[in-house]
Amino acid sequence: METLTVSQKMTQAKDFLPINGTDHIELYVGNAKQAAHFYKTAFGFQSLAYAGPETGVKDRASYVLQQGKIRLVLTSPLNSKSAITEHIKIHGDGVKILALWVDDAYKSFEETVSRGAKVYMEPVTIKDSDGEVRMSGIYTYGETVHLFVERKNYTGLFLPGYKAWKSSYNPTDAGLLYIDHCVGNVGWGRMNPTIKWYEDVMGFVNILSFDDKQINTEYSALMSKVMSNGNGYVKFPINEPAEGKKKSQIEEYLDFYEGEGVQHIAVATHDIVATVKELMSRGVEFLDAPPNAYYEDLPNRVGKIDEDIAPLQELGILVDCDEEGYLLQLFTKPVEDRPTLFFEIIQRKGAQSFGAGNFKALFESIEREQAKRGNL
Ligand code: FE2
Repeated sequence: METLTVSQKMTQAKDFLPINGTDHIELYVGNAKQAAHFYKTAFGFQSLAYAGPETGVKDRASYVLQQGKIRLVLTSPLNSKSAITEHIKIHGDGVKILALWVDDAYKSFEETVSRGAKVYMEPVTIKDSDGEVRMSGIYTYGETVHLFVERKNYTGLFLPGYKAWKSSYNPTDAGLLYIDHCVGNVGWGRMNPTIKWYEDVMGFVNILSFDDKQINTEYSALMSKVMSNGNGYVKFPINEPAEGKKKSQIEEYLDFYEGEGVQHIAVATHDIVATVKELMSRGVEFLDAPPNAYYEDLPNRVGKIDEDIAPLQELGILVDCDEEGYLLQLFTKPVEDRPTLFFEIIQRKGAQSFGAGNFKALFESIEREQAKRGNL
């Protein structure tokens, strides 16, 4: 078992729930109109679709943004009694829905609910002049939801009920292509039950594990296991805090999110140097670069890479390798005032892992930020 590569392990998933990829990610936010402007300006997303009072939706406004294959939905409630209002009151801005693109939303619901999933949305068929979409939903960790979206009989922009969002402000994209993985933070003792849930209910397979002996710095410790569906299109690493000298970064997240939830969304690029330069010029804040010694040691640690080291060092881009190749990655600072959700920019050059060799450098950088917030 342990000698299998990550790619080989993925093939062991029980694919009773074929998933074609991430359909979209929906965030509940305090002010979707302004958040949409931020994601366009800073990250290079494009305006795609809108739903709200003007389209007959009375209780919320939703803005759909697109870049590459990534669709982000930003939703705000329009009154104090909405469940969305309650969600934002507790968690602040954050990811509510990780929607999965499936061939059969009704079957996905039956397969997962019969295996113990908690129901979020009974299967429904919604229609407009562009066809029909079938959807259903189940809860995963915390109040986070997996929506199953079946759109083979739909030709519209996003979902029935949305109209095209035409904007006179259309900044260029930043080279973001697709969702590589989405990471969840769960509470003390909750990683293994969550892993088992993904195995039993979703038929996913555990492709990588890191314990607190591998992942700890002087202060911050965590444990992590990566779950993947069979074709590897959808990967969900799950983190749990571990005891360290001071507060784990995962515990800081749980305190500020007031519960379990999505910690980061990793988005892929074909040219991380160009993408990160572009994002930095638009004001996206990244974690500090590791010390010079990290880059001096890089050729020894990862071997030969295609990129020049100087621009990587200048931008603070991290590099790691596994038996299948290497990867380059960089993490933003949290994108809201609570230190909760952040983004990862990742470029894979063969490697199918998640940068465990960078955890020490990464955590030391995160700890410097935690210390600034007085949460270490
Ligand atoms: Fe990641």
